[in-house]
Amino acid sequence: AKNVGILAMEIYFPPTCIQQEVLEAHDGASKGKYTIGLGQDCMAFCSEVEDVISMSMTAVTSLLEKYNVDPKQIGRLEVGSETVLDKSKSIKTFLMPIFEKCGNTDIEGVDSSNACYGGTAALFNCVNWVESSSWDGRYGLVVCTDSAVYAEGPARPTGGAAAIAMLIGPNAPIAFEGKLRSSHMAHVYDFYKPDLASEYPVVDGKLSQTCYLMALDACYKGFCQKFEKQEGKQFSILDADYFVFHSPYNKLVQKSFSRLLFNDFSRNASFIDVAAKEKLAPFSSLSNEESYQSRDLEKIQKLCGLTVIFSQASQQVAKPFFDTKVQPSTLIPKQVGNMYTASLYAAFASLIHNKSSTLAGQRVILFSYGSGLAATMFSLRFTEGEKPFSLSNIASVMNVSEKLKSRNEFPPEKFVELMQLMEHRYGGKDFITSKDCSLLAPGTYYLTEVDSKYRRFYAKK
Ligand code: ACO
Repeated sequence: AKNVGILAMEIYFPPTCIQQEVLEAHDGASKGKYTIGLGQDCMAFCSEVEDVISMSMTAVTSLLEKYNVDPKQIGRLEVGSETVLDKSKSIKTFLMPIFEKCGNTDIEGVDSSNACYGGTAALFNCVNWVESSSWDGRYGLVVCTDSAVYAEGPARPTGGAAAIAMLIGPNAPIAFEGKLRSSHMAHVYDFYKPDLASEYPVVDGKLSQTCYLMALDACYKGFCQKFEKQEGKQFSILDADYFVFHSPYNKLVQKSFSRLLFNDFSRNASFIDVAAKEKLAPFSSLSNEESYQSRDLEKIQKLCGLTVIFSQASQQVAKPFFDTKVQPSTLIPKQVGNMYTASLYAAFASLIHNKSSTLAGQRVILFSYGSGLAATMFSLRFTEGEKPFSLSNIASVMNVSEKLKSRNEFPPEKFVELMQLMEHRYGGKDFITSKDCSLLAPGTYYLTEVDSKYRRFYAKK
């Protein structure tokens, strides 16, 4: 199979959300901390009738319907998620009724999990399957679904929720550049979920930021080496039209892009001009080890100043690059929040939403990060494709503007009350939900009941 990649996409996020400005005031945080400090506008969350299973059912059914794909044509289904509703039964099995109904039970694949990386693992599995000798000619389907919720405190505003479905096959308008892929994996405790009775993670926020940037550096270095080996010339950010990052919050995306520029500077990329070189020179002696040690260190303060330097030198160096190469992918993550496994692909969906008519022929580099940790940088190439699997049709099916517009904003008191109810219900049995689906769009699945044997039941609006 040739040009294997993403043929079609659908995104679903809950219509329930809270404005970051409102949450900030309610939490007693200083004005601008969530909106400017974290760079976030709004946060979606599941109400008591939605969860990762219902969201993934909605995304999958909608994708199959809107692109007119016969469920019998799916030969592999993989789910990436870090939201645990069952320690054994995969989310994939909850999706099987959609296919069983049509007589298709011959579908490989189960769930992949490692924090926000599970979706990327699922995607690679499907792509590899289509490229392998066991491929039977049918499509792969990848689902990334998560509800990111944090205990009260500084991490709470970095929550979010969504499910994304992606159809995988040959001759795709979004094709993998197979060899251009570099990973970094290590054992760290930056964010993890050891308490099985709670949906909330244990998170060392500062360490997670450092690990994310370290992984980015390592992946970028490996990526550049592989590119140089394959193409026989140096790679710099100029060789890609767009960069899309896993987006826990927008500020980290801004820092990540600066970091790539700093890497290009250290590698003597030819586009960094004399003026920028002079500004960056004082930092060239910092080793990576030093720069990651601790944020309290003077040196790391200087390194953090790098963002400032880039924005001061913005006219010549970072800002115009950020605006053209990164900004178009930031819409949904800023509006919906961290969607864990779906976050990177929601950023990618934003790029298609904003730029579908001009993407053909262009290259995009994606960076996937999951705490713990697992990270990969990889490259995709666009072609326009043919309907229904064309970039313009993907943008119109996802209908992002309409979905964002038709949301319902919760006041903070109601949001906190809901978080408490969800905390109480997590891992619970023997309850019936309100079944109130008045805020949900037609076609949305919702949770109706968890019975005395923990079995979950859903209905479709
Ligand atoms: N106006 C403007 N900016 C402000 C304001 C204000 N009033 N107040 C603070 N800021 C800035 C800070 O200077 C800081 O920016 P900087 O990093 O550029 O210096 C930023 O806002 C955040 O403020 P902090 O004090 O660093 O925030 P805090 O430590 O309270 O929480 C954190 C931030 C650590 C990201 C927390 O939300 C968290 O733990 N989130 C979950 C972990 C996470 O998402 N990690 C990312 C990778 S792992 C993953 O994807 C889960």
